[in-house]
Amino acid sequence: MTPFFPLLLLFLPISSTSALDFLFNSFNSTDLTLIKDAIVESSVVRLANDSAQLSSGQAFYPSRIPMKPTSNSTSLSSFSTSFVFSILPQISTSPGFGLAFVLSNWTSPPGALAGQYFGIFSSETVPSVSPLLVVEFDTGRNPQFNDPDDNHVGIDLNSLVSNITKPAGYYNSTTGDFIPVNMRSGQNVHAWIEFDGNSFQINVTIAPAGVSRPARPLLSVTNPDIANYVSADMYVGFSASTVKWAEARRVLAWSFSDTGVARDINTTNLPVFLPPTLSSSSLSSGAIAGIIIGCVVFSILCLLGIYWFWRNNRLKEEENDEIEDWELEYWPHRFSYDELKQATNGFSKEMLLGAGGFGRVYKGTLSNNMEVGVKCVNHDSKQGLREFMAEISSMGRLQHKNLVQMRGWCRKGNELMLVYDYMPNSSLNRWVFDKPEKLLSWEGRRRVLADVAEGLNYLHHGWDQVVVHRDIKSSNVLLDADMRGRLGDFGLAKLYQHGEAPNTTRVVGTLGYLAPEVATEAAPTTASDVYSFGVVVMEVACGRPPIETWAAEDEQILIDWVRDLYDEGKLLEAADKRIEGEYTAEEMEAILKLGLVCCHPNPQRRPTMREVVAVLVG
Ligand SMILES: *[C@@H]1O[C@H](CO)[C@@H](O)[C@H](O)[C@H]1NC(C)=O
Ligand SMILES: *[C@@H]1O[C@H](CO)[C@@H](O)[C@H](O)[C@H]1NC(C)=O
Ligand SMILES: *[C@@H]1O[C@H](CO)[C@@H](O)[C@H](O)[C@H]1NC(C)=O
Ligand SMILES: *[C@@H]1O[C@H](CO)[C@@H](O)[C@H](O)[C@H]1NC(C)=O
Ligand SMILES: *[C@@H]1O[C@H](CO)[C@@H](O)[C@H](O)[C@H]1NC(C)=O
Ligand SMILES: *[C@@H]1O[C@H](CO)[C@@H](O)[C@H](O)[C@H]1NC(C)=O
Ligand SMILES: *[C@@H]1O[C@H](CO)[C@@H](O)[C@H](O)[C@H]1NC(C)=O
Ligand SMILES: *[C@@H]1O[C@H](CO)[C@@H](O)[C@H](O)[C@H]1NC(C)=O
Repeated sequence: MTPFFPLLLLFLPISSTSALDFLFNSFNSTDLTLIKDAIVESSVVRLANDSAQLSSGQAFYPSRIPMKPTSNSTSLSSFSTSFVFSILPQISTSPGFGLAFVLSNWTSPPGALAGQYFGIFSSETVPSVSPLLVVEFDTGRNPQFNDPDDNHVGIDLNSLVSNITKPAGYYNSTTGDFIPVNMRSGQNVHAWIEFDGNSFQINVTIAPAGVSRPARPLLSVTNPDIANYVSADMYVGFSASTVKWAEARRVLAWSFSDTGVARDINTTNLPVFLPPTLSSSSLSSGAIAGIIIGCVVFSILCLLGIYWFWRNNRLKEEENDEIEDWELEYWPHRFSYDELKQATNGFSKEMLLGAGGFGRVYKGTLSNNMEVGVKCVNHDSKQGLREFMAEISSMGRLQHKNLVQMRGWCRKGNELMLVYDYMPNSSLNRWVFDKPEKLLSWEGRRRVLADVAEGLNYLHHGWDQVVVHRDIKSSNVLLDADMRGRLGDFGLAKLYQHGEAPNTTRVVGTLGYLAPEVATEAAPTTASDVYSFGVVVMEVACGRPPIETWAAEDEQILIDWVRDLYDEGKLLEAADKRIEGEYTAEEMEAILKLGLVCCHPNPQRRPTMREVVAVLVG
């Protein structure tokens, strides 16, 4: 393309018969029309800005492609395209949203939302405003869109509820076996889309870059209705949207043809964006070969090591029934595995209370009829486990009426089971916004906030050591039989970090609750706990989660929205309308202001938990 291309475009009538055939093995900033936060960086398209709270971006081919030979035509034009993309998670357990290949009548469809809406769809109940045909490469499971899993490919016709989806993978051309492809590993994924306008057929195929094109497509749909979702000329390109630290989406190469089969992309020299420990971008093939040989040797050594460890362990287990000396030092009570197995009906599905980043939680009934919650956490190494045990044993000594009391623990292999008091009324979010059957009253909400503040104050100031919780959120606030709030999961964030490879710095916590400084300094402090507590205060006052992607764009981030309303002097508009009448304006304003000051961007300006308790308890 010449630099005059955009100029020429002005003078050339776009004829609906002009053939289009292009191949980008790399990109520069003039090759595509970049919308919103999309940029070209090191010859690669990055669709959204990963350090912004919510971001979305699109990259389209600069001119429209003709899709209907005449505007009355019942048959459609055909095209063939292939591209290479990479989706790299920043927090591997956080949900991602993937990216979308898009045929759209508009480059910025009105009402398009960020978050799980790919930056191109509007909310699911309102049909999108423009003809829109999307192939989604989705890395998040959104139950409201009937997503089958968190790694699937689907075809969307004006709606995020896909017309058809398949788990990501490909069929081996010789054996016919289905081989899954993890799209969220950072590896380069090669995708091919064939659109036959005469028979209304779309075929989608994916494979890891380097694997030659599988003969059988992953998805093949024939649907004459497709004509209704296509206008005479359409923009073709990519779209994605993200929440802070979710994942980076890149398009590395793209080839397209509306006259025949799209030209082959040579994937050999494309950059690779793997997670930090495995990064091998711009490595020579010699170095790659070296790494592969190194990996193979390393794996063999590891296998030998594991075998040796396992054999040793087994011998030891047989000798002393798995209890090692160091374990006996720890308080509180050590349960036997059989005792917990019996209490939870053999860790049966019926007893499962929930599963999260740290592992699964079961309900159990001990032989003395005491009801408990049993949290199972997997740990990679015994060394890390031992360090963690030292900590958990001191956590076990933490006792406060507003903490979920730990009753004991058990270890089986590298799995650790922590036994807590059972909390019959589940967690705070269930009573405030997650489809609550019964809303918590204003009185109840204030009491729970005061309880949590007291519990957190105890962790920060009430003990000989400062304990930073690191994962304060409404789903970690549990309600006991009297509907009093208790803080759970303290100390677990630390375990999470011990389990990491030593040279990856990973942010610990939950999206939406993280203080801004945690991203840059990665050293959680009591002030970052105060920030997360401030987010919980606002959730409770406003009755909504910290990130609400289907809200209007300026209302999606709870804190920003409340702060804007405060600046405009309309703070009360943020209050939960469902409990209107239960609170006085002064009470609500005081709580919202407390939330805002706790969420002050500057950690030094936030109050301490001691000060917060003074406000809430009086
Ligand atoms: C972008 O690449 C095209 C060729 O694909 C080239 O003609 C053009 O000069 C490049 N533009 C810039 C700004 O580098
Ligand atoms: C991404 O967003 C951050 C925070 O909003 C901003 O500081 C930065 O300049 C943005 N980067 C790009 C490339 O737009
Ligand atoms: C399209 O249809 C309209 C009426 O249905 C007709 O008047 C017009 O001539 C048609 N155009 C073409 C190009 O067939
Ligand atoms: C597609 O967009 C064009 C303007 O860009 C508009 O005139 C046309 O009505 C749109 N088509 C549909 C079906 O919305
Ligand atoms: C897919 O589209 C076809 C034809 O429009 C329709 O009959 C079918 O119900 C759709 N399936 C889903 C799951 O939306
Ligand atoms: C397909 O299966 C054959 C036989 O198992 C194997 O040799 C080949 O590497 C596989 N190809 C791909 C692309 O997975
Ligand atoms: C789609 O795949 C099917 C099954 O492999 C094949 O028969 C058909 O020709 C393909 N269609 C296109 C447009 O490539
Ligand atoms: C791909 O590029 C590499 C390096 O430029 C070259 O050695 C190889 O022959 C190319 N492969 C094809 C199929 O063109």
